[in-house]
Amino acid sequence: VPEKRSIFHQNLMQWYGTHGRRDLPWRNTRDAYAIYLSEVMLQQTQVATVLARFYQPFLARFPTLKALANANEREVLEAWQGLGYYSRARNLHKAAKACAGKLPSTVDELVALPGIGRNTAHAVASFAFGLPVPVMEANVKRVLCRIFALEQPTDNQLWEGAHALLDSDHVFDYNQAMMDIGAMVCRKRAPLCAECPASGICKGKANPEAYPQKKAKKAPPVRRKDIVVVQHPSGSFYATPRASRFLGGLYHFCELEPGENGFALGAQRLERADAVLLGGVTQQYSHFTLDAQIWLLRLKKTPKTAQKDSWHSWDMLVQLPMSMAEKKILALIEVSNPSKYRQNVA
Ligand code: ADE
Repeated sequence: VPEKRSIFHQNLMQWYGTHGRRDLPWRNTRDAYAIYLSEVMLQQTQVATVLARFYQPFLARFPTLKALANANEREVLEAWQGLGYYSRARNLHKAAKACAGKLPSTVDELVALPGIGRNTAHAVASFAFGLPVPVMEANVKRVLCRIFALEQPTDNQLWEGAHALLDSDHVFDYNQAMMDIGAMVCRKRAPLCAECPASGICKGKANPEAYPQKKAKKAPPVRRKDIVVVQHPSGSFYATPRASRFLGGLYHFCELEPGENGFALGAQRLERADAVLLGGVTQQYSHFTLDAQIWLLRLKKTPKTAQKDSWHSWDMLVQLPMSMAEKKILALIEVSNPSKYRQNVA
């Protein structure tokens, strides 16, 4: 109903003016790159985390898309350390290179860039370029499910609803407000329907928690590993960048599957039995939980062929781009016996 829709738009703008998180830094810029960066960080990380530790330092280090394009991947991964889902950083870097310093301003061109899906493209298009397209991150999805009383909607149904509701005269504030409604009012548990500017059009408000219906998720598997930190007689540590897609480019130590006892380091054959146990590390990833035992193996003799650039002094080691599990391993080395393990005796 057009009148109801227009009252909803008025209510939403009023609510956003009073309660919206309008001081978020990416809501106070028209710099397309700064907006794009925020949307990529926010794809899988909460606002509070992005704000507290990552957004401003990353922008300070790479202030423009050109600066990012000119950086090497290792520097970008370094700035992304701790945020997780590192393919975001690799794709951001690839996209910066692909668009030669200037972000395109149409949805089709944006979606064609690596790491940009429909939601991120719409966010950048509406926030940076004022295009009348709706956003639909997880919070907005829930809002739409409730407004339209959808239990298990398809993406098409949701996008259709999103387009139908959009206030195309206030795209920027509308999209930001919908995310805030999702985060602050239309919460997963105990939503505050009495305060909601959408209550006049909401078909799900009688039983909001029924929408959407939650899918039964099975717990991610636990993967056990032994991780061996190999230390050169000179005191330096062996670490190499991963070549895999998962955590690609981030440095890691030697990883053994359960039951594996020996492993290769260059042409050298090493035995886990010669290592000392430092402790355990667990880390949750999206698709599994790592449960690792961490070992330190101090070599008595210089190994034959392990590549020179794979050895790092402690001071260099702690500066390499690493994911959280490896950071925890560094902390374990540090607490287990600092003077003995970290010294350079060369
Ligand atoms: N999540 C994704 N984009 C966002 C934005 N612009 N503001 C707050 N949370 C978000």
